[in-house]
Amino acid sequence: VTGTPLASLREGYRALVFGATGGIGEALVSQLAADPRCANVFAVGRAPQEHGGKVEGAIFDLEDEASIVDAVGRATANGEIDLVIVATGLLHDDAIKPERNWRALDADILAKSFRINAIGPALVAKHVLTHLARGRKSVFAALSARVSSISDNRLGGWHAYRASKAALNMLIRNFAIELAMRNREAVCVGLHPGTVDTPMSRPFQANVPDGKLFSPEKSAACLISVIDGLTSADSGKLIAWDGAEIGF
Ligand SMILES: NC(=O)c1ccc[n+]([C@@H]2O[C@H](COP(=O)([O-])OP(=O)(O)OC[C@H]3O[C@@H](n4cnc5c(N)ncnc54)[C@H](OP(=O)(O)O)[C@@H]3O)[C@@H](O)[C@H]2O)c1
Repeated sequence: VTGTPLASLREGYRALVFGATGGIGEALVSQLAADPRCANVFAVGRAPQEHGGKVEGAIFDLEDEASIVDAVGRATANGEIDLVIVATGLLHDDAIKPERNWRALDADILAKSFRINAIGPALVAKHVLTHLARGRKSVFAALSARVSSISDNRLGGWHAYRASKAALNMLIRNFAIELAMRNREAVCVGLHPGTVDTPMSRPFQANVPDGKLFSPEKSAACLISVIDGLTSADSGKLIAWDGAEIGF
């Protein structure tokens, strides 16, 4: 699966992807790099990666603000950025399992989830939004999740993940309001990538209906096409891989 060219951004656009070593992040980097309209992709990941051609790498950690400043500094040294995608996130790791009930709540896990899913992306925004191109369409998109929607929540559980992504949605809405004062054509959105076959979803794929589990490449292609169709009227919203708005 390959992405369509991002025709709504300027010819020679410059893109910055945080979380370039993740399942979806990696697919986004390679599809943006394959877009003939794209001049540069800055692929920012926790671990160093081999890159070449129009892809340049940088390393960062969401829990280290100085590393975010450094990565943004490198990416913006040669000019403005047209597209920023934050493709990081945390649902589980060796020490963290999504909670099934309130008895499982743990203060450290809640704090860690907020640090990775809300505070880290907010710090990325803090340092990168001033470098988003003005006077033309530019996009800041952070990957959120359908389960962050409060109005759509009928299953419960996954307290730390749902709550930290809901906090991310609020920050995105706030940044959208502020960004519009700087550039009326700017777009700031949360994106739901679908259920995607990556390490994040792997333990939870058993109940996914046939045909509903996307490859990272398919999800990335859908997200790029959604980003292409976004206008400032969409800014501040949570939008799914198929372009449909998800109510908060
Ligand atoms: N997969 C799905 O079904 C699904 C569904 C809904 C929403 N999402 C969202 O989509 C986004 C991408 O998820 P994915 O499926 O691609 O998961 P993934 O493969 O697990 O990728 C997660 C990424 O987050 C990075 N990350 C975690 N902690 C970090 C930190 N402290 N500093 C910097 N980077 C950090 C990881 O870095 P390392 O590579 O170094 O570990 C990795 O690049 C997430 O926001 C997720 O919530 C995914």
